[in-house]
Amino acid sequence: MALKDDILSELMISSFVSGEGLAEKYYVSRNSIWKAVKQLRDEGFEIEAVTNKGYCLKGDINKITVGAIKKGLRSEWSFEILPETDSTNNYAKELAISGKRNRTVVITEKQNGGKGRLGRPFYSPEGNGLYMSVLCRPEINVDCAPLITSFTAVAVAKAIEKLSGQDVNIKWVNDVYMNGKKICGILTEAGFDFEGGTVDYAVIGIGINVLGTDFPEELINIATSIEKETGLKISRNDLAAEVLNNLENMSCEIKNKKYLDTYCKKSNVIGKRIKVTYGSQVFYAEALDINENAALIVKTEDGIKTLNSGEVSIKL
Ligand code: BTN
Repeated sequence: MALKDDILSELMISSFVSGEGLAEKYYVSRNSIWKAVKQLRDEGFEIEAVTNKGYCLKGDINKITVGAIKKGLRSEWSFEILPETDSTNNYAKELAISGKRNRTVVITEKQNGGKGRLGRPFYSPEGNGLYMSVLCRPEINVDCAPLITSFTAVAVAKAIEKLSGQDVNIKWVNDVYMNGKKICGILTEAGFDFEGGTVDYAVIGIGINVLGTDFPEELINIATSIEKETGLKISRNDLAAEVLNNLENMSCEIKNKKYLDTYCKKSNVIGKRIKVTYGSQVFYAEALDINENAALIVKTEDGIKTLNSGEVSIKL
């Protein structure tokens, strides 16, 4: 980890840290500490130096930083943190195409063109959400690719529950709900090796509404945030780390499919009357089950159908 990230972590956990203490702890000169603090200031962190006390972090301490995320990680990931971008998925796809390695994570404070499924926009105001795209190269066959999204939904659901202490549900196929409103959406885009029948790369875009309680008129009844539901301002850095920890054994867990038990238990769709949009068709059905391919089994007037994709709505 870079010295500046270590210093940032120290500043986040203590009110004041002395330059001398930091120099001793990290085996560097006072001048190196001063330079690292300057780097952090150049990145936008407000760091005050107080005589006889040391450095103190002011302003927004909930900024997303590599150092703070790494503190909570169990394994190695590389990061690109952007102040703003159109869409972290677009950025990560470019990295994938240019050959960037497995386990690269792109996170931004604000998206100007956040993308949802079916060409919809994803509301991504500055500083409130965790807007993250995970570039991975899972060792799985093309036919397992659709499972990436359901696996991620479980990873996100567990992370939110752990940090917020509040139960969440999953609406097939990839939305995470808290108290009946959407708290997270997932958009997976992938490139395939057609010769080998394998996944070349997957970019898993995860958008979680973490902070803030105000939503635009058109979203008020359908979307919510962790803060709005629980009153907690949880750290987006801790949440990012927890989600990544839950994703770390992706290839293996997708192959053994054990996560599907949790996926089904958390489903807020099974057993409900639903409205299905499937391509250009719209019909009503009863959701019966989710099968081993994460497909939704529904009962319609015309008999039982297996849905591999599509969109469902439920009356909650
Ligand atoms: C949906 O709800 O339909 C999916 C939303 C996915 C949003 C995330 S935010 C990070 C990543 N970048 C994007 O442009 N989209 C995904």
